[in-house]
Amino acid sequence: QQLKLLTGKRVLITAGPTFEAIDAARGITNLSSGKMGYAIAKAALEMGADVTLVSGQTPLLPPYGAEVIKVTSAQQMLNAVMANLTQKDIFIAVAAVADYYVLNPSEQKIKKDAHILTLELAPNPDILANVMNLPEPPFCVGFAAESENLLEYAEHKRRKKNLPLLAANLIQDGFGGDENELVLLDDKGTHPLPRASKLTLARQLLRHVANMLPKSSTK
Ligand code: C5P
Repeated sequence: QQLKLLTGKRVLITAGPTFEAIDAARGITNLSSGKMGYAIAKAALEMGADVTLVSGQTPLLPPYGAEVIKVTSAQQMLNAVMANLTQKDIFIAVAAVADYYVLNPSEQKIKKDAHILTLELAPNPDILANVMNLPEPPFCVGFAAESENLLEYAEHKRRKKNLPLLAANLIQDGFGGDENELVLLDDKGTHPLPRASKLTLARQLLRHVANMLPKSSTK
């Protein structure tokens, strides 16, 4: 039985990969499974929160009780987040958002020929940065998936995005599987969460979040 540490809190979570269309049949995506974000949604519900999950494409079944908004591209994810942020206490950006989108996707399937095909890519908006830039942002948690120099890159990301809390993991530890290993970074330092199921880690992360919330933060 989980302590209802988040009763009355409204939580918005992004999860999964984004998919940026190249043509009618193809696109650019990544190996995020969505499992970490869905586990956080489930743990937040257990702890009594009201949960909205903005999810990229994944075959996962959302946890019972979450409001789910399915999106494909980063731009759609940004729109869904911004449209659903009012009165949220906590925003947890777990999604692996594509850094770039294809500038001129083809409506029809591109036919192959002998020539070199060049795709023009333009940078996607940073959803978490957009939320942090609001006049009164909710409590924001970022994720950093790195393949090397985990703590250094993660702390740099946390400071650059001005985040109170960031959860860092190695891509090789977490992507796709049911387990992960996290390090939480906040102003007080680093807090390693040893290898465990994503649901266990989600509960530990949310207990950490609950401890960091200002006592009167329910809007
Ligand atoms: O991609 P990056 O490593 O910068 O991601 C760090 C954090 O920012 C993650 O929490 C991710 O969900 C979020 N992010 C976002 N929108 C982007 C890129 C990243 O919300 N376009």
